[in-house]
Amino acid sequence: MGKKNIEIAGPSDGTIEMLKKAYALEMSAFHYWFYIDQYAEGLGFLHSDFYSESANDELEHAKKVALRLDQLGAKATDNPQDWAEVSGLGNLEPGKHVTLRNALEYALEFERTAIAHYNELASSTQGKDHITYHLALDLVSDEAKDEQDIEDILDKLEIS
Ligand SMILES: [Fe+2]
Repeated sequence: MGKKNIEIAGPSDGTIEMLKKAYALEMSAFHYWFYIDQYAEGLGFLHSDFYSESANDELEHAKKVALRLDQLGAKATDNPQDWAEVSGLGNLEPGKHVTLRNALEYALEFERTAIAHYNELASSTQGKDHITYHLALDLVSDEAKDEQDIEDILDKLEIS
């Protein structure tokens, strides 16, 4: 942790908890996509890398969140069993979402939860903790792009 960093750009109230929630959310989402990718056979026409790329994106988000937590002298929970609760998402149970439509519609729900969470994080850090604020903006725009991509795929499913 950087002492000066914390002194001059330290967290606002609740930021650490929000980052911990973000980490749990990203790791839950990572595992969801990863698991779907393993059992994606028959899940339809998506190009073969869609699920693994989505998993990697979530992992990259988790890394950025973990780095910021570290800079603030905090750590994410190391227990995967806690992610369901800390994330607020519950257990995503990817094995239950075996059709393409179902898998994507469910993913849309947690992408939207992530958007709302990063939006809240941006609002609560704006003008105070600039580094976390910029991280929140970076992540909210990434999640918004993911939401759009999934919506576009679901729209195509309507037509075909
Ligand atoms: Fe993410």
